[in-house]
Amino acid sequence: MSRLLIDGGHRLNGEIAVHGAKNAVLPLLAATLLADGESLLHNVPALSDVDGCLEILQQFGCRIRREGGTVAVSPNGADRPIISDALMRKMRSSIVFLGAMMARFGEAYLSYPGGCELGPRPIDLHLSALRQMGAEIIERRGQLRATLPNGRFRGCTVSLAFPSVGATENVLLAAVTAEGTTTLLNAAREPEIADLAAYLSACGADIRIDGGTVTVRGVPRLTAAEHTVMPDRIEAATYLAAAAVTEGRVTVTDLCPAHIATILPIFSEMGCQLKTSADSVTLEAPPRLKRIPYLRTMPYPGFPTDAAAPLLTAATLAKGTSVFVESIFECRYKYVGELIRMGAHVQTEGRVAVVEGVRSLSGAAVDCTDLRGGAALVVAALAAEGRTAIGKLEHLDRGYAALEDGLSALGARIRRVSES
Ligand code: UD1
Repeated sequence: MSRLLIDGGHRLNGEIAVHGAKNAVLPLLAATLLADGESLLHNVPALSDVDGCLEILQQFGCRIRREGGTVAVSPNGADRPIISDALMRKMRSSIVFLGAMMARFGEAYLSYPGGCELGPRPIDLHLSALRQMGAEIIERRGQLRATLPNGRFRGCTVSLAFPSVGATENVLLAAVTAEGTTTLLNAAREPEIADLAAYLSACGADIRIDGGTVTVRGVPRLTAAEHTVMPDRIEAATYLAAAAVTEGRVTVTDLCPAHIATILPIFSEMGCQLKTSADSVTLEAPPRLKRIPYLRTMPYPGFPTDAAAPLLTAATLAKGTSVFVESIFECRYKYVGELIRMGAHVQTEGRVAVVEGVRSLSGAAVDCTDLRGGAALVVAALAAEGRTAIGKLEHLDRGYAALEDGLSALGARIRRVSES
């Protein structure tokens, strides 16, 4: 078992580059299944979720090469349309493979992803959309058995009741080689969708995105292409929050500021000075942060649910009362109990969190409850007085590459220790 030991209270200063986006690379890896030949993905972050996806591709029979941040995937010869129960449990987001598996193999066998740390995570929208496109899917005893009686998906008009990111990706992956045209209405508009579409288009797909409407004209086959994974906007927001709580001055580089256009004004509202260039943001924090009067998470282009936890942590140290409303997931506040152990004053009820800012937090032994909750604890620990020991790092390692190295370079006292 490993823990992060963080001695807080040190001002962060300097430059830090973000890695490729976790939420972009997972669907991109699923998409490589559709393109004949060897696709090359660059800027692939070293994350346990990426390891899990590569394991899934290998189980299908794909050939994988990995060198630094570049991953080469060739699906030629892949012939096992199964995701094992163990991998499905480890990576609930592997449901994003469903559309691609069916398009490639004509069938797919996997277990139901079940609930997760953020509450129940249904896949009804994924299944209903794929069924409308001609899939036959049987759900029995937690297993999914999906087949395409005609061998190919059938283009049609699909309307999502909610702009689900994963369901949009699954429809896109099903539609690119479908027979005919698919029109997806109320599609998610997250930048990771555009990144997926960019790779698929480079492979020969015919995709048009117009706000929440995605039109895909199916083509018979895709050919491998090269693609650089977009920068991780949530990692960027996390580093900015870390700078904000430590009275720091940090430049986050290699990002796309437009992707965090709804996050940056919140930092300004808290009294931070921001300077933006084409691919970087510099944040200079005030001696005391101001409260966030009201923050509601929304589908893109609204405030991203994944960035709310580090911002809520910043609010625990702000002057005054902040209010957060989570509108995407049911149980997003599990980490708040750990923040309270560190001296934060937060009350939650359902999807609402009310944060009374305190002057300081204090180091404690805490555990990550989920990925973004883990990031919130790191941000809190960097600001806290004394030492914080953070356990259950497997959550954090799913989504933050080289976290200790990056923060150490900014002046944080952070190290990972292994305990037997
Ligand atoms: C993706 C991101 C995750 C982010 C989320 C929202 C990845 C790997 N993960 O997750 O980090 O927090 O988008 O931006 O990209 N829902 C249903 N039925 C469905 C599908 C979803 O009810 O069939 C609900 C979910 O329970 C949730 C909401 O819709 O309450 C949003 O889910 P969705 O947009 O699908 O998120 P994910 O793709 O799972």
